[in-house]
Formats: sequence, C-alpha cells, structure tokens
Amino acid sequence: MVRNADHAIAAWQQDIAENGSNRFDETAEEKVFDDLHRAAAALFNGTPDDIAAGSSATELMSSLAWALMPGAETNVVSTDIVFPTAVYPWARVARHTGCQIRLAKTHGGYVDPDELAALIDDRTAVVCLSHVEFRSGQRYDLARFAQKAHAHGALLIVDSTQSAGAVPLDAPAEGIDAVIAGGYKWLCGPFGAAVLYLAPHLHKRLDPGLVGFRSNADMWTIGAEHLVFPDTARRFEFSTLAYGCGIGLARSIEYLVETGIDRIFAYNRGLADALINGLEALGAQVTSSRRTEERSAIVTARFPGRDPAAIAARLKTAGVMVAHRGDIVRFSPHLYNTMNDVDQALTVAGELAR
Ligand SMILES: Cc1ncc(COP(=O)(O)O)c(C=O)c1O
Repeated sequence: MVRNADHAIAAWQQDIAENGSNRFDETAEEKVFDDLHRAAAALFNGTPDDIAAGSSATELMSSLAWALMPGAETNVVSTDIVFPTAVYPWARVARHTGCQIRLAKTHGGYVDPDELAALIDDRTAVVCLSHVEFRSGQRYDLARFAQKAHAHGALLIVDSTQSAGAVPLDAPAEGIDAVIAGGYKWLCGPFGAAVLYLAPHLHKRLDPGLVGFRSNADMWTIGAEHLVFPDTARRFEFSTLAYGCGIGLARSIEYLVETGIDRIFAYNRGLADALINGLEALGAQVTSSRRTEERSAIVTARFPGRDPAAIAARLKTAGVMVAHRGDIVRFSPHLYNTMNDVDQALTVAGELAR
C-alpha cells in the first residue's frame, strides 16, 4: 500500500523531470487534487467540496486560525497535553487579538472530559481538540464536544492526525465544523501532504489566513487586483504544493477506505489488547485510557525503575518501532502489524523489564 503511494509520487516526479509541464499542464495542475478530495471526502463522510489539500496539518490549522481570528473577548479551549498543532496557531492569533487560550489540565496524563467541557462558555469561539491525544492515545467523544460547543455558539475543530485512517470519523454525523489530518501517520502517506474537511456552512464564510494564486475560483485568472474565492473548502488551497505528495496521499487514503476504517480499528484494537495484557504481565504500568469509548490503537506504558528512552532505543534496535514521549513509551500498532510483531515487542520489553 505504501509502495502504491510511493510509486504514484515517484511516477509524477519522473514525469516532471522528463517532460516538465508538457504533460502536467494547466488543466492537470488545476485538477491535481481531485482524487485526494474524493478520497478524503470518503474518509470523513463528506463531499469533495468539503475538502482542501495542504502541505501539513499545522499549515491548514494556521490558515484556519487566521480565518476565524477569535477576538479579544473570546476564548479558545483545548488541552495541556495536545500536540502543538491544535494550540500554537490559536496562541499566535491570540497574541494579535488578545483572545484567551484555555487548556484543560491533565491528571497523570489523563484529561477528564467533564473538566474539559466545563471550560466551554458563552465566550468560547473555538474548541480545538485532537481526536486522539498523541501522548496518551486518549480519544474524545467528538459529538459531545460538538454539541457543547454549538450550544455556546462556538465551533469544534478537530486535529485527526492521530486518528484518521485508524479510527472512524464521520464529520457530518458528529457535527464537527472542521477536521485536519496530516498524511504521514496513520494515513500511511508521505510527508508534504495533509487534508482539511470543512463543514458546508463554513464554505463561503471564511477568509483563509494563507492566500495565493491558487486561491482564486479560476486559478489561472492570475491578477494582482483579483481574488475571488471558490465557494468550497478549496479556497484553503493557495499555492503550488508538493503535488506528487498529494497524489500519493490520495492512493493511501483510497486503500485504507477500501479496506474499511471500521475493520482497521477493530484489528488494531485486537493488537492493542494483546499488548496491554502482555505489558501488564511484565509489570509495566499501562497509562493509556482503558475505557472503551476513550481507546484508540495507541498504547502507552511506563516501566517503573527503567529509563523510557533506553527502553524505546532498545526496542527500536530490535526492529520494534515505538516512540518515547516524556516518561512513557508509546506503541502504535496499525494494519501492517501482526500478532507476531506484538509478541516480538513483548519479548524485547520482557528482557529489559527483568
Ligand atoms: C496530533 C498531531 N497533529 C499534528 C502533527 C504534526 O502535523 P504536521 O507535521 O502535518 O503539521 C502531529 C505529529 O506528530 C500530531 O501527532
């Protein structure tokens, strides 16, 4: 599957190298993200008009933050454990407008959803959450936060970089206003491509923070005095991008959607269950939430009395790719892993735990 994306990217790059823009002409450039729009629409259960391509999750979030530009009397709600993509762009706008940033505090790496909800009030302009927290794997009930945000006239914006491709996300059904996903994690795509889902009620309303010649409804009417946005999410596409990466990401998402995100989620959870049981048997403390509705595929663990960096490094040397974040080791099993991989991880972790 990754080879598929890989081949698509290489083929596009090769064509540019050999033919310049003879084949990749103006029409091709205009339509270059059509497949990605369709694939991401299927992923989030939207329509292609709800999707914009970008270079990274952070770029898309930044453009969105400047488009919404919460004002002085308002606040933006998130968590203190969230990946910076969901906070820094809003904090940058806040330095300009004076809006307040409110972060729910974690307790031992866990965010109490009730405490998070209690931060939302009538002055909240945006609730910006990571569907799945990168550091703990904790998953939020997005429908609940959409309802709560909307009841106070706020928007719910979701960074799905740690869930898209691994956890089902029906953006319209959950009532989410915007979703962003970087391509290079669970979507198995390349660096250099990301997607934005924008709910239809926002298509015509937003003035993106980043604009350029591609922002025009008719992108080839290049003119310094002329900027007419399309009435779709595509207004967030503003310039030349790593086009080959966008083509590759479309292939990855198509594969994942065809495989079935529900099936992938169930499969990954089976691997995660085996990991949790095995780690506990080794005396590790599993720190990721065990509540069914808060689980993702991510499993995090502490190894009391052991240096997490050394454990992560040893696992990596043995071919078990994990991440070390603070005092925890993070395991992220996905559809390309098998129970043999879990066994191997537990065998190596067991040697170290002894
Ligand atoms: C939740 C989350 N959002 C965003 C990113 C980074 O996204 P990008 O590099 O596309 O800006 C990461 C990377 O680890 C992440 O975990």
